[in-house]
Amino acid sequence: MSNSALAIAQKNLESTGWLDLEVDPTLDLVEEINKLKKERNAIILAHYYQESEIQDIADYIGDSLGLSQKAASTEADIIVFAGVHFMAETAKMLSPSKKVLLPDLKAGCSLADSCPPHLFRAFKAQHPDAVVVSYINCTAELKTLTDICCTSTNSVAIIESIPKDKEIIFAPDRNLGAYLRKQTGRDLILWNGTCMVHEIFSHEKITKIMVRHPEAKLIAHPECEAALLEKAHFIGSTSGLLRFTQEDEAETFIVATEAGIIHQMELASPDKTFIPAPPNNMCACNECPHMKRNTMEKLYLCMKHEEPEIILPEWVIEQGVKSIDRMLEISEAAGLGLKKDEEPD
Ligand code: 13P
Ligand code: SF4
Repeated sequence: MSNSALAIAQKNLESTGWLDLEVDPTLDLVEEINKLKKERNAIILAHYYQESEIQDIADYIGDSLGLSQKAASTEADIIVFAGVHFMAETAKMLSPSKKVLLPDLKAGCSLADSCPPHLFRAFKAQHPDAVVVSYINCTAELKTLTDICCTSTNSVAIIESIPKDKEIIFAPDRNLGAYLRKQTGRDLILWNGTCMVHEIFSHEKITKIMVRHPEAKLIAHPECEAALLEKAHFIGSTSGLLRFTQEDEAETFIVATEAGIIHQMELASPDKTFIPAPPNNMCACNECPHMKRNTMEKLYLCMKHEEPEIILPEWVIEQGVKSIDRMLEISEAAGLGLKKDEEPD
């Protein structure tokens, strides 16, 4: 590849989101990525919603809480985040001296986009005494307006850590917020955001599958709508759903979350059957289009050229990280997420 091709790709990075360079189709990408990992002392952290090949090459695969804990404690020089933008931002806030790479900067999140900080600031001003709890699926700037972050693994513990006489604002996911109201009995003030993937499941099609497979258990992520959660046999974060399929005696599961997690479910329980919950139209909308922007080629390119990199203003890191640190403290005290001996690396 010529230097000028690289210079053009770098110039276009802002509009493309990634280094748009040709990759030799005969390259063994697994071998090349493993080589780069060693040469650069890099760690690859991948979310369960990534494509299977990326999960297979990652050093750690996990849910949002586990990924933050790994990012906070890794000794690698470079964190390569195979996930979406808010996850890589969180890693940068937790490890500001490290280089954090994201294979495609345009791998966003509809939930994070549904809560623009300037609008949220005005919303927050209407409830000046409220404690702000934000789902980690939000922008770095929103984290600067947040007292405590949470993930789906620790959200109940986080809400329960707040004194009962305190008002609580919960942003940005109204479905997780409604679920938390039910679980904790607290009257949360909700921001009206949703995840495009978890909103689109077809109740009618899921009911038909349940009739056809009466032995199957419906398992769902709390980002799903309340009507679907009411039907579910089990509700949990991605790691919670994965654990449930390993420990429960059922042989068949209807999985109402992004279909990428099924790869780990099949690896852990090869004799069980996993049916992805269908969306309410004919597209593959139970795949997150943001998560799936990352590919093996983009992963290879970003490790080779150490771009695109996550850069955040210092004030955002300083003010925003407090809400993530608070979340990690409460999680540790509650024994949630990674145990000490599972920490890197
Ligand atoms: P968890 O993996 O923490 O359950 O979150 C799911 C998700 O929506 C990530 O975008
Ligand atoms: Fe965001 Fe939903 Fe995609 Fe998760 S699945 S990254 S919440 S859009």
